Amino acid sequence: MKLLLLSKENIKLAKAELSALIGPVKKYSDNWAFAEAKDIEELSNRLAYTKAIYDILFITRKDKLKENIKAFDWNSIYKKDFCVRAHGFDEKGLAGLIWDNLKNPKVNLTSPKTQFEFHNTKDKIYASLLLAQNQHRFKDRKAHKRPESHPTALDPKLARALVNLTGASLKDTICDPFCGAGGILIEAGLMGLKTVGYDLYLSMLDKAKKNLDHFKIKNYKLIKKDATKLSRKFDYIVTDVPYGLNTSIWTKEKNKLQKISLNKGKRSESIKYLENFYLKFLKNMNKILKKRAIVIFPNYVDYKKIIRLSRFTIKDEFSQFIHGSLTRKILVLEN
Ligand SMILES: C[S@@+](CC[C@H](N)C(=O)[O-])C[C@H]1O[C@@H](n2cnc3c(N)ncnc32)[C@H](O)[C@@H]1O
Repeated sequence: MKLLLLSKENIKLAKAELSALIGPVKKYSDNWAFAEAKDIEELSNRLAYTKAIYDILFITRKDKLKENIKAFDWNSIYKKDFCVRAHGFDEKGLAGLIWDNLKNPKVNLTSPKTQFEFHNTKDKIYASLLLAQNQHRFKDRKAHKRPESHPTALDPKLARALVNLTGASLKDTICDPFCGAGGILIEAGLMGLKTVGYDLYLSMLDKAKKNLDHFKIKNYKLIKKDATKLSRKFDYIVTDVPYGLNTSIWTKEKNKLQKISLNKGKRSESIKYLENFYLKFLKNMNKILKKRAIVIFPNYVDYKKIIRLSRFTIKDEFSQFIHGSLTRKILVLEN
């Protein structure tokens, strides 16, 4: 059984991301998940909102802790050197007990080959071995750190979690119909998935190409096309639609680019315009989607109505507050 430490940043999303990748989770306790998980290296290379993965060595109570430490065969899992992390316990005292038990003990506090941790959850103590830690360096991939940034780019951690919410495996392809500067494609590509990105503007596709090449991502295709008219079928679609604030959107009716104004005077007219655009996109997506889509809408549109009209089912829903007038609605859709 594995113990997984979830990020408290967005617990609901962390749980959904985990179960989309590994299937049912045995139980949760606060920000801890207990689950059977196999390929730990691949899992930790993928999960965005999981901080660390541990093997559970034994489960005990406070009054039995020392006795159980003395009885456990630490040599069977010890490699080269070790350190002990035990928040809320006498760390040195526990490390001393393990030291006494080891044949060739060597302490390494900075980069140990073996890290033993003791975690307290309600009435139980979990003695555990650290298997993997989140090392995704999301900060290095934030929009302003990429060669080409874009004001609407998603946070890389969120982009990765969205890809994972599909449950797609490494052999699968992810399509982003509104790929912009490629934020979603970068995270999917770094995990090893194939990607196809569409955007209406060559200038955006050019930015996406520069960003993808910067991160040495190989398996991608970028195509200039209207997202409401795609005909190629995809198992998985992940996208952040244009909100109409900074990005232009295009419709056939007026046959020109439209910049949406959400200012007081034109607000309801603009929102209606956006809703029609989204409906058109979703109706087309219903023809090309085979398994699951993750789509972000701005909260100021009646997304539930649009989704109902396009005959999709909302399987799950998350919110991300951006500022007073924008909350992102993250929707897991199936047809
Ligand atoms: C919200 S941005 C995507 C940001 C992207 N998710 C990222 O993290 O970098 C939306 C993109 O949709 C594009 N777009 C607008 N209307 C479109 C249409 N009809 N078809 C395809 N792309 C469109 C815009 O050019 C813009 O790049």
